[in-house]
Amino acid sequence: MPAENAPSPLIQVEGLAVTFELAAHSWRWKPQVLHAVDGVSFEVCRGESLALVGESGSGKTTTGRALLGLYRPARGSVRFDGEEVSKLKGAELKRFRGRAQMIFQDPYASLNPRMKVGAIIAEPLRAHGAGSQRQRRERVQEMLRLVGLPPDASNRFPYAFSGGQRQRVGIARALALHPDFVVADEPVSALDVSVQAQVLNLLSDLREELSLTMLFIAHNLAVVRHIASRVAVMYLGQLVEVGSRDEVFSRPAHPYTQALLRAVPPPDPGAGWSGEKVSLRGEIPSPVSPPDGCRFHTRCPYAADICRSVVPEMRTFASGRKVACHFAVDANGGEFSSQATTPEARPDRGAGAGVENRAGDAGSGIETGPILS
Ligand SMILES: Nc1ncnc2c1ncn2[C@@H]1O[C@H](COP(=O)(O)OP(=O)(O)OP(=O)(O)O)[C@@H](O)[C@H]1O
Ligand code: SF4
Ligand SMILES: [Mg+2]
Repeated sequence: MPAENAPSPLIQVEGLAVTFELAAHSWRWKPQVLHAVDGVSFEVCRGESLALVGESGSGKTTTGRALLGLYRPARGSVRFDGEEVSKLKGAELKRFRGRAQMIFQDPYASLNPRMKVGAIIAEPLRAHGAGSQRQRRERVQEMLRLVGLPPDASNRFPYAFSGGQRQRVGIARALALHPDFVVADEPVSALDVSVQAQVLNLLSDLREELSLTMLFIAHNLAVVRHIASRVAVMYLGQLVEVGSRDEVFSRPAHPYTQALLRAVPPPDPGAGWSGEKVSLRGEIPSPVSPPDGCRFHTRCPYAADICRSVVPEMRTFASGRKVACHFAVDANGGEFSSQATTPEARPDRGAGAGVENRAGDAGSGIETGPILS
């Protein structure tokens, strides 16, 4: 694609870090710092849907909220349409809040039970002084139509609706102000499996129809396949792999991505999926004192000495895919391959060999990455 036609980034995140101070308690004398997001960089282009995936506690929601200016970065920057979000004030901040919205995970907790649905959807319009009362009523009706709810839904309270319908109300509220960017934080994970597909399809259709840019947060990669064009994988506050959906799903490069994908059923249910859950050993370590070197080394069956002391840098491969693993090599004309086969077969296991040694051996890597067991 010629450079002048390439989509430009709407969101630019560089070295973003968000910390939380944990107060001292009787069992903990000193306050502690929790590194929820620690040095994350990525872009979301206009009209693109980027999925942010990872286990619980990896920092997905914190990243999404920092993008919306709801958390102030401890380090790094978030730019929206070229403007530093943390520096926006007054009218500019208000305008940004209208352009960037959030769809929440829990449609039960996120809707005020004392407000009628019409008032809930009109709330952001009122807060931004958008239109007259009549125009706001019309906009509410337009939004109800758009999300597939009947016109009389506006006179009913949230309790009268099912989980899927409530999430439609949440989507209508988020889109009422014509935002350019939406953070959808696990928007279907609280819903019955039977209605998840309907809400995902609705989101996918709306995204295209309204040319929305979206950060779609999920811990279940199965839902990501339908809605994202690119996937960013997060572990313990850092990104470990970013690539196109097709690349990441068909040839996951990072051992953590491979483990996550093992839990995802293939699009064709008859294709022999074993139905295994994520086969990761142990728990995600504490973000208060993350492991040295590669943060994944305490759970990675491929970990060598170097992984315990040297932080793997995020490297970009010929296809544009980014991977943060010492043993990721770019073999055979830009195709990704991995040195590792099985943990036992790794000749250098524990030997402490350097990155250069792996990369110099690129041609001998197997074509697809290993699957963890
Ligand atoms: N307000 C807060 N105060 C203190 N710690 C927090 C706060 N919000 C998040 N954390 C911690 O930051 C880390 C990242 O949390 P976050 O909610 O971003 O993860 P997540 O990937 O969204 O997880 P989940 O899939 O469970 O929603 C966790 O260890 C969490 O306990
Ligand atoms: S750097 Fe080492 S520990 Fe980290 S993912 Fe790669 S092989 Fe595993
Ligand atoms: Mg979350």
